[in-house]
Amino acid sequence: MFETEVRAALRDLPLGGLRVFQSIGSTNDEGLAWASEGAADGSLVVADEQTSGRGRSGRPWYTPPSAALALSFVLRASEEAGAQAGRLAGLGALALTEACAGLGLSSNIKWPNDILVRDRKVGGVLVESAWEGNVLGASIVGIGLNVLRASVPPPGEVLFPATCLEAEIGRPVDRMPVLRAVVSAFLRWREKLAGSEFLRTWESRLSFVGGSVVLTRDGQVPLTGTLAGLESDGGLRLRVGDQTVVVRVGELHLRPTNDRIA
Ligand code: BTN
Repeated sequence: MFETEVRAALRDLPLGGLRVFQSIGSTNDEGLAWASEGAADGSLVVADEQTSGRGRSGRPWYTPPSAALALSFVLRASEEAGAQAGRLAGLGALALTEACAGLGLSSNIKWPNDILVRDRKVGGVLVESAWEGNVLGASIVGIGLNVLRASVPPPGEVLFPATCLEAEIGRPVDRMPVLRAVVSAFLRWREKLAGSEFLRTWESRLSFVGGSVVLTRDGQVPLTGTLAGLESDGGLRLRVGDQTVVVRVGELHLRPTNDRIA
């Protein structure tokens, strides 16, 4: 049974708490609700299936039963954590790249939070805030990973071509060791969130560094430039002509300009 398997896979990891669901609307919603009930820092929600999983910009995120990983961490806010909020997408992304590496798969991060294997999206990260009045109570870091073939959304339903671990490795993959790898890497990198090693590693795994990219922002003129790297707060640095422009996480989409992807 899913819950028993998850609890066994994560049994000795230092989590604030653990809630496991066979089926749920969205693990991020559960994380937001749990945060408002006082979830301890580092609590984790895991589900086998999401019936209304969501991605960035309110897009649906496909999580059919028994095929994917869907999890959300509740990270309690503190003054120090608040200063690192812009790095949380990177934290989820680093955890995913490390889990891929553990399976021998090379992956990259399409800033801020898409994980690509051979230019196809295998996973994503959605960071949301739990407010207590005007004060940030917690950040919810939601992580989705396509593991088995059934988890890959139909081509018409996605903006970016998708893949899964099974397709990339060429054999079925057991989700539990992958879940453990993602959660362990997340906890390990969280310890280093404020440091330069974190930023350097995130930057070293970015796609398109040194290449020409176009950033489209909802309702604004697209911005074309050379992807130069990351700011300390996780913002993306672009060279546009002789100027440097910094873009923060928001409603935007990044693509290489010589887009090989339809
Ligand atoms: C994206 O690429 O747009 C982000 C996808 C994030 C999906 C995960 S799955 C677990 C968590 N629950 C959700 O509803 N979304 C995130």
